[in-house]
Amino acid sequence: MAIDLFRLPKAELHLHIEGTLEPETVMELADANGVRLPYPDEDALRAAYSFRDLQEFLDLYYSAMATLLTADDFHLMASRYYATAAAQGVKHAEIFCDPQAHVGRGVRFEEMLAGLTQAVADAERDHGITGGIIACILRDQPVESAHAIYDQVLAHRDSFIGIGLDSAERPFPPELFTDVFTRAGRDGFKRVAHAGEEGPASFIWTALDTLGVDRIDHGVRAAEDEELIGRLAASDIALTVCPLSNVALKGVPDLEHHPLLGLLERGVKVMINSDDPAYFGGYVGDNFLAMRVAGMTDAQAIRLAHNSIAGSFASAERKAALH
Ligand code: HPA
Ligand code: ZN
Repeated sequence: MAIDLFRLPKAELHLHIEGTLEPETVMELADANGVRLPYPDEDALRAAYSFRDLQEFLDLYYSAMATLLTADDFHLMASRYYATAAAQGVKHAEIFCDPQAHVGRGVRFEEMLAGLTQAVADAERDHGITGGIIACILRDQPVESAHAIYDQVLAHRDSFIGIGLDSAERPFPPELFTDVFTRAGRDGFKRVAHAGEEGPASFIWTALDTLGVDRIDHGVRAAEDEELIGRLAASDIALTVCPLSNVALKGVPDLEHHPLLGLLERGVKVMINSDDPAYFGGYVGDNFLAMRVAGMTDAQAIRLAHNSIAGSFASAERKAALH
């Protein structure tokens, strides 16, 4: 009998917490906070969850997060995520947040952080989910803004596992942010970056060689570069691949043609994650189910889940307990 993919212990390492805002939560927060959205109701908002590319998604993603104002709002959003994640077998989650997107519209950094850190603590108490928060730098914002937000992250050193790099990829190569990533490395943060989602495989090379990242987010376009596949397979660098996201944003035509399983068989440490599950059709367990329909075997599912735990920043003891 096929294994229960929801019960397979797994780590979620590529999850934008603002991408877990389901339409009903957006509407609930908009009503509570008196935020006007260009959508009359939940159905109209849900109908907008269809995208031609990354930028079209980001436009909606940033407009929906305007409903998040107070620490309680961030706490509600993250708590709902953790409850769903727990039901899909997530035991460890390293969640992304986009502080510049909140501070830039007048929300205090500490307000955002208070809600998220409370939800992280509650997740461990209520669901046994370990992990923490990775603050992402928006690559389509100026470098000075990246340094300014990094100063705030550093001022709350103990609340973050690491820093990441996200938002519109293509005209913004990783090397624009070398200085801020160098600072983060010196300060002892883990470093990750989105690379090779819409951007070319060369962005994966520069994320590794100029940003010094410990992990690559997406990285699916590594499949186009034989030398890079060899390098990744010979290293401990994991790729946090998000199959439903790649189909939703038209990076790959369908799951049957997704490079995930090919990269796995070449020895690259790929895993399955969910990216922005409220927008892309499912949470991490749903991504596993969809990949099964596209041909993933149970043995491959077990290796992918294992890679998620091995590729996490959990302690050696925690990893041993989850493997
Ligand atoms: N790609 C880049 N930036 C993002 C994404 C994504 O899928 N989701 C939220 N920010
Ligand atoms: Zn992402």
